[in-house]
Amino acid sequence: MTVKTAPGTKRQAWQALQDHAGRIRATHLRTLFEDDPERGGRLAAEAVGLYLDYSKHRVTDETIGLLLALAEEAGLRERIDAMFAGKRINVTEDRPVLHVALRAPRGQSIVVDGENVVPKVHEVLDRMAAFARALRTGAWKGHTGRPIKNVVNIGIGGSDLGPVMAHEALRHFSDPRLVLRFVSNVDGSDFALAVHDLDPAETLFIVSSKTFTTLETMTNAQTARRWLMDALGDERAVARHFVAVSTNADAVRKFGIDTANMFGFWDWVGGRYSMDSAIGLSTMIAIGPERFGEMLAGFHAMDEHFRTAPFDRNLPVLMGLLAVWYSSFLGAETIGVFPYSHALRRFPAYLQQLAMESNGKRVTLEGAAVAGDTSAIYWGEPGTNGQHSFYQLIHQGTRLVPCDFIAFCRSLDPIGRHQDLLTANVFAQAEAMAFGKTAEQLREEGVPDWLVPHRVCEGNQPSSTILVDALSPSVLGTLVALYEHSVFTQGAIWNIDSFDQWGVELGKKLAVRIIPELEDEAEPKLAHDSSTNTLIRRYRRQRAAKR
Ligand code: F6P
Repeated sequence: MTVKTAPGTKRQAWQALQDHAGRIRATHLRTLFEDDPERGGRLAAEAVGLYLDYSKHRVTDETIGLLLALAEEAGLRERIDAMFAGKRINVTEDRPVLHVALRAPRGQSIVVDGENVVPKVHEVLDRMAAFARALRTGAWKGHTGRPIKNVVNIGIGGSDLGPVMAHEALRHFSDPRLVLRFVSNVDGSDFALAVHDLDPAETLFIVSSKTFTTLETMTNAQTARRWLMDALGDERAVARHFVAVSTNADAVRKFGIDTANMFGFWDWVGGRYSMDSAIGLSTMIAIGPERFGEMLAGFHAMDEHFRTAPFDRNLPVLMGLLAVWYSSFLGAETIGVFPYSHALRRFPAYLQQLAMESNGKRVTLEGAAVAGDTSAIYWGEPGTNGQHSFYQLIHQGTRLVPCDFIAFCRSLDPIGRHQDLLTANVFAQAEAMAFGKTAEQLREEGVPDWLVPHRVCEGNQPSSTILVDALSPSVLGTLVALYEHSVFTQGAIWNIDSFDQWGVELGKKLAVRIIPELEDEAEPKLAHDSSTNTLIRRYRRQRAAKR
């Protein structure tokens, strides 16, 4: 694989962008629109049913040209080709990165280590479909002969956030007779709350874990098993009430789940890129195999767009380059993502793992320090709720906050004027953020002088607006793939490994060391720092006093 590895800052386009950023920083979006009245229609791109308006960004045609040159210099094209060809671009784990194979249509060929993986993907999809149908029709019975009514997914991180997000997003397409619940946190309240009103005889647990070693998931799975045993009192019940989704068949077997009830995936699927693998079993059960297929087709359409479209019309490339522009050149620390769709209320949480676990890195593929900042902090809430909360900071605070607005032309719940009101708000917010309100305008409106500074909205807050017809399984797939590939683009420019997550390990290891220090009867010898030691001792004392 030929990947250009010149340190980012030495690239010609990088240096040109740094100079250019100095000029743009001083230019207001009001000026950019006055000087270029047509930019609202021109700085836009459309593909696979998504319309991306990026005209309200602090960019000119020159900026976009320089960012596109940076993409070329950074070898983005080669990186994309390498990913789709199954090359081992996750260098620190020596793995290919092939979530795109999860949605490759039957008949396509993607070869890893001499083997076409697409038939394996479809074999699992077919088994998932057969299981989902059996469950949905009541043919799959629980241990006491009653059909399953409740499905509880136990998983965390990539084995939870995608399924939860998809469940909320696609409720409209889901079988209303099924109750879906999700348990992720090792806090016992999560499990307790999820099952408090469920009948064990009608409940199926999907234990979802790529590694099948994750502390939270394994603890919750054991608790679920006890909960089931307490009610049904027969080990054989596990076979009818537990299935596993994992890459680790040995660990699944050891847990006591028959591997006939296991749905596999592969080490070339990253956890945060796995909602369309067998990790999506709960989604398939809820919406049915046909709609799950539509979701995969939506993903695939965006994959093809990303793979083939010229960069200047390539939605994920443009979005990724804009994210780099703000992080690396304009000093923005965050990107707010605001879906104007209540169904997408968990989308920002899903994106947080996708973007920040992928690109929260500080060294290049070669292990050298990255120049400047990498991933922005992604965050967000659905509109219009956020407007009555943190939007104030965006309108009048001191920070630069680029935003992504996601809006829909049609509602899945068309009630009265709601959709027009919702959409009026999203358009108004993007307009207010960009253009603000000047002191002159306020004075003309008769606002007294003393109040003017308090009411000025500086504006110049950049945003993208993604406008879509209506939410559907296929649109959800397209949207997720859009962000996956935007994240990929950013990682390629920064020349980092977007597919490992070594940083997560340290805290996990430290927790394993602390567990016995909390649980052992005898007072432990503590060798942490003085803060951690004090906290452990205080916890032990306080807990003992209340026992
Ligand atoms: O928290 C880190 C992480 O490794 C994520 O990358 C992953 O999605 C999550 O834990 C869960 O891992 P697993 O699916 O192996 O239980």
